[in-house]
Amino acid sequence: MEDGAVTQMHPDIEFCLATEADYDQVMAMSTDVYSGMDYMGHFYFSWLQEPNRMVFLAKRNGQVIALESVWIVDDGETAVFEGLRVAPWERGQGIARMIQLHCINFIKTNYPEVKRRRQTVGNKLPEVLNKFRILGERSVLIFHFKASDIDGILSYITRAMEAEGKVWQQASLLQDSDVRRIFLDREVIDTVLPNKKIMYDWHPFEPTESNISLLLSKQIRWMADCSEHPHFLSLCLDPYLVSMGQEFLRLNIDMFGKVLDEAKKHLVTQLQISSGKLTGTVLCFLFLDTLLTAKMEEFVKAIPAVEKPNILPQMLLEDDL
Ligand SMILES: CC(C)(COP(=O)(O)OP(=O)(O)OC[C@H]1O[C@@H](n2cnc3c(N)ncnc32)[C@H](O)[C@@H]1OP(=O)(O)O)[C@@H](O)C(=O)NCCC(=O)NCCS
Repeated sequence: MEDGAVTQMHPDIEFCLATEADYDQVMAMSTDVYSGMDYMGHFYFSWLQEPNRMVFLAKRNGQVIALESVWIVDDGETAVFEGLRVAPWERGQGIARMIQLHCINFIKTNYPEVKRRRQTVGNKLPEVLNKFRILGERSVLIFHFKASDIDGILSYITRAMEAEGKVWQQASLLQDSDVRRIFLDREVIDTVLPNKKIMYDWHPFEPTESNISLLLSKQIRWMADCSEHPHFLSLCLDPYLVSMGQEFLRLNIDMFGKVLDEAKKHLVTQLQISSGKLTGTVLCFLFLDTLLTAKMEEFVKAIPAVEKPNILPQMLLEDDL
């Protein structure tokens, strides 16, 4: 690994690729990450197996003190950075900067065809944003509810839509062949996808054949308002446990498009289909166009049994490598 400059400045810190044996130390330094809603416990082992993904660690005296992951996508042209964290007792000393620099040096040396770094962040800190080009912004509406309340929640939403005089119709489930056709369609890319990207959770992907094949290998449910000429699309990953405790399941729903009624329909349909897999407390992360944020917040707030939603920005950032 070509990280000579970084390691010379900090001789007691070493960088290495993560292994399964590092899991306990990684989790031990991640307890406060994302207020306990961290995904790392669920994804750590699969990240280690994922083709074209590397998980880097910084260690001081053999102890894990930082993590950053790099996933090379877009036919080898983009390095998506993700998962950055520094142990609470090591923050404020430039460790985050060092591990990112290490990753960049590693990519430049070992993957010279990579043109750019991309990442998403859930804040608008100027010290972070100033270092990147801002490609776009979405909103993340986060709300939680008890899985045992799901039937009441679904019937409330359906009744609320009918009361607005809307014809209630489920969003359509897409087959793999529909997904390829729709997500490679020029008009959909230009008019429906946010910043012409397929955003899956916090990951940006160019709409390419190879990225779609990669995404089709995941447990994702793809839906559209209509499969022929869609104006609204959504993706939903199977719910997974987060570190807050055994009782907390995270459910991510990505929405693409600007039509409010479709956002409501996709929310109900995705929740309905997921309902059999929901247990304990469900933390629903709804990623959507900023134009829909206020109206969807109002809509979700009115649902009985749903806790008051929080809103985060999702900033898509890029720089050249
Ligand atoms: C955010 C965090 C990683 C910063 O770690 P740190 O070691 O204290 O940070 P540093 O001392 O290196 O100083 C901050 C540097 O990291 C950069 N940085 C901070 N947050 C960043 C982020 N989310 N993405 C990229 N760079 C970031 C800053 O721009 C700054 O860079 P500079 O030195 O080139 O100006 C740390 O507080 C942490 O682990 N927080 C909890 C997890 C988290 O929020 N991760 C962010 C995920 S988006």
